[in-house]
Amino acid sequence: MKILVVGGGGREHAIIRKLKESPAVDKIWAAPGNGGIAADAACVDIKATDVEGVVNFAKSNAIDYVVVAPDDPLVLGMVDALAAAGIPAFGPRAAAARIEGSKVFSKNLMKKYGIPTADYAVFSNAAEAMAYIREKNEYPVVVKADGLALGKGVLICQTEAEAADALKSMMEDHIFGKSGSTVVVEEFLTGPEVSVLSFTDGKVVKPMVSSMDHKRALDNDEGLNTGGMGTVAPNPYYTPEVAAACMETIFLPTIAAMNAEGCPFTGCLYFGLMLTPKGPKVIEYNCRFGDPETQVVLPLLKSDLLDIMLATTNGTLETTPVEFAGESAACVILASGGYPQKYATGKPISGLENGQLPGAEAVVYHAGTRQTAEGLVTGGGRVLGVTATAPTLADAVQKAYAAADKIRFEGLHRRSDIGKRALAAKQ
Ligand code: AMP
Ligand code: GLY
Repeated sequence: MKILVVGGGGREHAIIRKLKESPAVDKIWAAPGNGGIAADAACVDIKATDVEGVVNFAKSNAIDYVVVAPDDPLVLGMVDALAAAGIPAFGPRAAAARIEGSKVFSKNLMKKYGIPTADYAVFSNAAEAMAYIREKNEYPVVVKADGLALGKGVLICQTEAEAADALKSMMEDHIFGKSGSTVVVEEFLTGPEVSVLSFTDGKVVKPMVSSMDHKRALDNDEGLNTGGMGTVAPNPYYTPEVAAACMETIFLPTIAAMNAEGCPFTGCLYFGLMLTPKGPKVIEYNCRFGDPETQVVLPLLKSDLLDIMLATTNGTLETTPVEFAGESAACVILASGGYPQKYATGKPISGLENGQLPGAEAVVYHAGTRQTAEGLVTGGGRVLGVTATAPTLADAVQKAYAAADKIRFEGLHRRSDIGKRALAAKQ
């Protein structure tokens, strides 16, 4: 089969490398891909959000199956547009992608169907939102932009003044554009966070191995929120008992709720969970694979990824095996200094041959790299993800860091404590 993967980050690189293991795959294209992905797929210069460009490319190259990985093209309806052109694709249609694209949609869905989540209220007027926050008078309080905001649309406010600032910047200064015209004001929850990616064909849901993201830029969960600075899998807080509770109170009810709303979800549904003292609750849904969760989850997948993806599209997931190795994986992100704020790009990367570490027991997923006449250079905030697997989490973390030590570029920033909390939880 000829496969087109839409997107150009570490997540897409991990998807492509796993798809390459499938005997049914003849050739893979990436739109747009990146300098490192080019070693594993033919990169075409089409933006991930260019719905028409992707459809036209798929048609003219007789692509058999398209994997739409990022949130924005899914929310824009790329899967619908491909289907209209007769091209099957992995991922939800726009109506189902609202589960990530609109926090108001997802919060109302959870309320209507009794799926556990933080208490909330929705506002399109800043003064009314402020009046609600003053009356509740419970801090911290969480303010979320309704729409997509590059993972930055969540502000945790410690005081009334901070809440007022958050509302002003979202609703009056429009720092997230239209995404912040409507906000969700939410109760602050506590407890360990777990990411559970799952495959679903709208009928059955098959969770993947659980994982733990490290969202803050600096060690000890300090500094700004980022897209993710590293991940480990499995997540030790996600015990079999917790998994069973999540299946019963969250996963199955969510699939049923989407069907009842007339927008069945197919593809990868990501449950961002918090294990609160009152049980697991949904922090957020994503309509796609997580980044960098994918970089630890897919290396542990033993079953054929293409078979599973096709089964989510064809409605045959029930009979398709989704099996994971009983090992652990760790991914350390190498970022450009300054990320998630201002950073430089174009810095030469040393230590890699053909984008990989020669002889190292780790895989390098390229998040933001460019191929130039001078060789591979940095091309984004998150540059590389170094993933190792091992029978124990401690070994996987140690191997990932040993491999990461061999890669250099000017301004390289990484956290030195990926996996630390998971390892502490294990004892
Ligand atoms: P999100 O962009 O929705 O993933 O939110 C970013 C981060 O904000 C999450 O990973 C949580 O750590 C935190 N967060 C979001 N909502 C809440 C909440 N209701 N209570 C506590 N923390 C939250
Ligand atoms: N790593 C969090 C996300 O993909 O949204």
